[in-house]
This record gives sequence, C-alpha cells and structure tokens, in this order.
Amino acid sequence: MDALKRQAAARALEHVQDGMKLGLGTGSTAKHFVELLGEKVAKGMRVIGVPTSEATRAQAQACGVPLTTLDEIDHLDLTVDGADECDGALNLIKGGGGALLREKIVAAASDRMIVIADDTKWVDVLGRFPLPVEVIPFGLAATQRAIVSAFAQSGVSGQMEVRKAKDGHVFVTDGGHWIVDAHLGKIPDAPRLAGLLSVIPGVVEHGLFIGLARTAVLAGAQGIRVVERR
Ligand code: 5RP
Repeated sequence: MDALKRQAAARALEHVQDGMKLGLGTGSTAKHFVELLGEKVAKGMRVIGVPTSEATRAQAQACGVPLTTLDEIDHLDLTVDGADECDGALNLIKGGGGALLREKIVAAASDRMIVIADDTKWVDVLGRFPLPVEVIPFGLAATQRAIVSAFAQSGVSGQMEVRKAKDGHVFVTDGGHWIVDAHLGKIPDAPRLAGLLSVIPGVVEHGLFIGLARTAVLAGAQGIRVVERR
C-alpha cells in the first residue's frame, strides 16, 4: 500500500514546475510527496510551500522545502494532498489525520488541487469512512444536536464520537479544536450535507471537500489512473 501511495505522489510531482507556490498536504500519502519534492529541491528546483499541518511543516523543513504562509503570498498554484475517500465527482472526505481545517483553507487558496491516493480510497458514494467534523469544545452537546439535525435533513444518520488520541485523551487539532467522527455509511447528497454543516455555529469545518479537487491520481495494482473533474 505504501508503494502505491508513493507512486501516486511521484505522478503528481510531474505537475510541479519551477517557481510554483505549493500547498503541501497531510497524511501518509502526502508525506511521500513532500519527501520527493525535497529531493527535487535538493537538485535545484525552486518552489515554496504552505504546509497544511504542524506535522507537514516539520517534515518539509527536514526535507529542505522552503515554506511560507498564506499571509505572505496571495494564492497557491497547486495543492497536492491525500484523501480518505474520493467519489466520481472528485468530492472528498478528508480529515482522517485531523488536518481538515488547514487542508481546506489551503486547497481553497489554490488554483488547482490534485488528490493522491491508493485506489482503495475510490468509492461510488462517500460515507464509508467516518466523516470528521471539527468543532469548538464550548457547547459541544448543542453543536452535536445541530449536526444530527443536519444529518436528518440530508437523509443520513449514524453514531458520532469525539475523536481520541492514542493516549486516550481527546484529540486536539492544530487549531485547538476537537473532532467529531460521524459513522454515516452512505451520504447520498454530499454537497447538501456540506452546506448544512457549514452554517452550524459550533462547527469550525467539516471533512467534505466539494468541488475543490480537480484531478485525482489513484495508484492500484493495475497501475495509475488519473481522473479529471468533469
Ligand atoms: C488528513 C487527511 C489525509 O489526507 C487523509 O486522512 C489521507 O491520509 P493517508 O494518506 O494517510 O491515507 O485528510 O487530515
């Protein structure tokens, strides 16, 4: 699986040109991309990156990739990031690694987003992977009730749990928020659910990435498949 992730990352790297401003994703697949990008930089390629998490910031620095922030530059040429699920419209579930907020800010600031993944992430209908919803700890129960209502309005339901870190404590995002993971099974209308979740006051952001990815690079046993958004 790791070899497939690296293949997808390597293919996405072909889209990187000298001088580009890049969004650098988070997760085990994006990690390969940052590592391969570091090798290009070591050979003289000039790029600058905006990391989507503190983990990616640390890795990019260790790999010698120059970094900046969205306060210092006005847009990004390309973001390359992983995903937990990708459907035929290139709508995504992201946030398995807890970086969805910065990932979405960075993707939205980019002219183009390329998703890199092994082909197990490809689904007909989003929702098999628990949907991460980043929330403010204050008023959590009220926020969860509003989330349940949003689910009902978009025809989905399922258990929700506050994400825990490996040490058993509540997982805290880079932004200081919590994540609620919702086990929905299938989300028949992801754009509608995304809209409903976005207007809940205690929801900071959710893991539905609608209309952000333009290209998906999916690596599988049969080779690499590149899907462009129609
Ligand atoms: C992190 C993410 C990741 O991109 C997503 O979880 C995929 O990770 P991996 O490449 O390790 O499977 O959204 O918040």
